Amino acid sequence: MTKIGILVGSLRKESFSKKVAANIAELFPKGFETEFIEIGNLPLYNQDYDDKNNVPAEYTTFRNKIKELDAVLFVTPEYNRSVPAVLSNAIDVGSRPKVANVWNDKPASIISHSPGNLSGFGANHHLRQILVCLNMPVVQQSEAYLSNVAALLDENGKVKNEGTIQFLQSVVDTFVDLIKRYEVSSFVFIKHMVAYLE
Ligand code: FNR
Repeated sequence: MTKIGILVGSLRKESFSKKVAANIAELFPKGFETEFIEIGNLPLYNQDYDDKNNVPAEYTTFRNKIKELDAVLFVTPEYNRSVPAVLSNAIDVGSRPKVANVWNDKPASIISHSPGNLSGFGANHHLRQILVCLNMPVVQQSEAYLSNVAALLDENGKVKNEGTIQFLQSVVDTFVDLIKRYEVSSFVFIKHMVAYLE
């Protein structure tokens, strides 16, 4: 079973990001399982915790949870033309200590949205920049931006427009394809290593 962690850049109860993410979670094929990863409980990152070996229990739980994942899906709004602090904080927590960066090598996909026309472009691209630093291979195309997000959802939070469902399915399919290609290349690498050591 391939494990996909979903990180949402909003803590709001009625968050559009959460609703969109719940719709996307249902689009993964057999053999893939999704899990929403809690990030609202993480204390603000402070390097002293790691430097003084006094890490909050929430950090350890979160880091172990990310380590178990095969890939990560980010669904986020834009805050002040960038990544919401709660998501940025979670990423920072997972990225340190640097030698133990839990994001390393995990394929990722980004979906941004906004209630207006901008579609979270700023957040989407700032997040891409961060994921480069974390060494996460990210789906390049198609980029996924959802504008006027409220109009895409019905009163139960379900995406109501067939064209949007098809678009989200194509986003998931491209992500699954990246994950599979990555699994194959990791497998080939391990096989070569084993052959080399024998
Ligand atoms: C926003 N919002 C917003 N929207 C946008 O398109 N560009 C932006 O730069 C911002 N900046 C911003 C900053 C802050 C602090 C807040 C609280 C909100 C509006 C935002 O897109 C809207 O509240 C979304 O509904 C937030 O996503 P969730 O909570 O619905 O997932």
